[in-house]
Amino acid sequence: MDLLYKLESIQYSYVWNQQQISVLKGISLDIPRGSFTCLVGPSGVGKTTLLNLMGVIENPTKGRLIFCDQSIAELNEKEKENIRLKNIGFVFQAFYLIPTLTVLENASYFLPSLGMDRKKADQWASEILDLLGLADQRHKKPLELSGGQRQRVAIARAMAKRPKVILADEPTANLDSVTADKTIAAFKELQRVENTSFIFATHDSHLVGYAKNVLKMKDGLIYE
Ligand SMILES: Nc1ncnc2c1ncn2[C@@H]1O[C@H](COP(=O)(O)OP(=O)(O)OP(=O)(O)O)[C@@H](O)[C@H]1O
Ligand SMILES: [Mg+2]
Repeated sequence: MDLLYKLESIQYSYVWNQQQISVLKGISLDIPRGSFTCLVGPSGVGKTTLLNLMGVIENPTKGRLIFCDQSIAELNEKEKENIRLKNIGFVFQAFYLIPTLTVLENASYFLPSLGMDRKKADQWASEILDLLGLADQRHKKPLELSGGQRQRVAIARAMAKRPKVILADEPTANLDSVTADKTIAAFKELQRVENTSFIFATHDSHLVGYAKNVLKMKDGLIYE
């Protein structure tokens, strides 16, 4: 099987108030390339934490994380940054758009760092904005958008890179069902054309319905 991620007994704890809080307690799983995966479970169970580990934003406290046959622990900071930039698109629960930039500039934000010239970057980002139904918003700034539009700009920024995987934290939380459907159709299109994998943390049963792979979390473990 062509694996995107292999997780071997992953543990993660936070130190808070001089106390060790164990959030992930030994997660092992394989995620194939080109798959659509949902992480589900009650608030506070560790979904965002697990996405942060898979996004190479945090390091596991224990266990081994393998991304595209590469053991992440063996990489230095520069190499990790490169993986994040080229291979991973992240949609944060809080979006983190840049308020002084337009929708198009936000969506194309990472592309010049991938060696793309401005014209090509604008073209790539425009295609994705089109796919997400945001073409007519491209010259606005984030504060001039609705919450759902902002959410889709954050999604567009991750998709525009055409990364190997998109890790998206509650990507449909601010969307009505029609807009959510269109957004899911855009994910499927990118998956079809680029074999992009998608991993979502979500409470949205609608989005879960589209996923082949549903991972249920409880007490710091995946139980199903
Ligand atoms: N920086 C931190 N310091 C201490 N504890 C933290 C920190 N970040 C998260 N936690 C704790 O870790 C646990 C898991 O948090 P996480 O954000 O991964 O949950 P989640 O499953 O994404 O929840 P939600 O569905 O509400 O987004 C929670 O109990 C949270 O309080
Ligand atoms: Mg979360």
